[in-house]
Amino acid sequence: MSASNYSLINNQTGNKLDLASVQGTLGPVGLDVSKLYGQAGVFTYDPGFASTCSTQSAITYIDGDKGVLLYRGYPVAQLAEKCSFIEVAHLILNGELPNTAELQAFDQTIRKHTMINESLMSFFNGFRYDAHPMAMLTGVVGSLSAFYHDPNATKDEEYRKVFAHRMIAKIPTIAAATFKRHMGQPVMYPKNSLDYCSNLLHMMFAVPAEDYEVNPVAARALDVLFTLHADHEQNASTSTVRMAGSTGTNPYAAIAAGIAALWGPLHGGANEAVLKMLDEIGDVKNVRGFMDKVKDKESGVRLMGFGHRVYKNFDPRATIIREECYKVLKALNVNDPKLELAIRLEEIALSDDYFKQRKLYPNVDFYSGIIYKALGIPVSMFTPMFAVARTVGWVAHWMEMTADPSLRIARPRQVYTGADTRNVVDLAQR
Ligand code: ACO
Repeated sequence: MSASNYSLINNQTGNKLDLASVQGTLGPVGLDVSKLYGQAGVFTYDPGFASTCSTQSAITYIDGDKGVLLYRGYPVAQLAEKCSFIEVAHLILNGELPNTAELQAFDQTIRKHTMINESLMSFFNGFRYDAHPMAMLTGVVGSLSAFYHDPNATKDEEYRKVFAHRMIAKIPTIAAATFKRHMGQPVMYPKNSLDYCSNLLHMMFAVPAEDYEVNPVAARALDVLFTLHADHEQNASTSTVRMAGSTGTNPYAAIAAGIAALWGPLHGGANEAVLKMLDEIGDVKNVRGFMDKVKDKESGVRLMGFGHRVYKNFDPRATIIREECYKVLKALNVNDPKLELAIRLEEIALSDDYFKQRKLYPNVDFYSGIIYKALGIPVSMFTPMFAVARTVGWVAHWMEMTADPSLRIARPRQVYTGADTRNVVDLAQR
């Protein structure tokens, strides 16, 4: 914390209040308004938190104007190219890329925790056949809190580590089981000889009656997608995990809250919404008509997979995913007309004044669904895939927050707009 050049002046009284500031390693300064109410009797007002930092964090840095995304200082493009998702998970959790021995130890630890308590299986059977996988994922991850519930545990560093490893290891097992329940197929147990993404593909697509070999192209494609989705600083779901976690609640319950927040179509649910939108448009010849609807505010239609609160130039993840999309479709010999449709939509949007003026660019979800589809993953599983990858970020943020001795419960204020104080009239007189 340091003195800053910023002051607030009350134009009526002339009173001046100097604001201290917080300067991070990169990015704009944060003005410290935490004492504002106590000193000046006013709140700050920032719906949607467009200009508000809720915390200091050393995990991820985004420069939305330049299209920069760094995990622990490393550009995401380099990590996607040179590292496995498990290496990236180690980096995000522990702050450093692992050496060979550290990677082996971390990987083994994650593999060791992939099983889930057998009684959790009966939870899946309780859901209706048509339950959305995200509904099941939210419920079953939340119910992990019934299996791991030491009330003092969050104060213990070792427990926090075990929580992190368990959560990262079990989320693919649970996500795959939601898929099997959805398909009416028997749940496949994890196979710990397989790497993280191969194991997930095995649990989703293998059946007990037949041999199944994981396609390495599919496993690598998933691995890259997971790296790109692993963390994104204080997005809606991560902030939800932090907010829930700030109360000292069970950490598995906090992750379930994050999964619930991710599900919305304005956040992680956008990957599913993009594919549904492409289905609705159907053909390149309908793109213009659809774009007219998007630009008509009355229609309530948005171009899903476009726009971002932070990126106002380009989303670096989208650029990598578009390239990956070409590679994967070619390697798997898939010819998907949806890719052509998406490219046409992007071209038209990027040259249109409506999108240019509002700085709307494709985000991480615009092309990811086309890759998932090429891997044989159904649309309803797109957001659970995102949840598996983002679990690393959620867990890392929860760890960072819980280890911070200055942690306080997250408790925003409001500008009250309801009725003024009034007296209750007796029922007979109302
Ligand atoms: N299609 C059409 N218009 C859009 C879109 C879009 N996808 N996104 C924003 N706009 C317009 C808004 O109507 C608004 O126009 P106005 O200034 O004339 O009122 C302007 O652009 C600014 O939009 P906001 O909604 O104020 O921007 P905000 O930062 O609050 O929202 C969001 C960001 C939610 C991502 C938004 O761009 C959106 O709805 N995109 C589509 C959903 C999506 O792809 N979400 C995934 C985001 S990435 C992730 O979470 C993984």
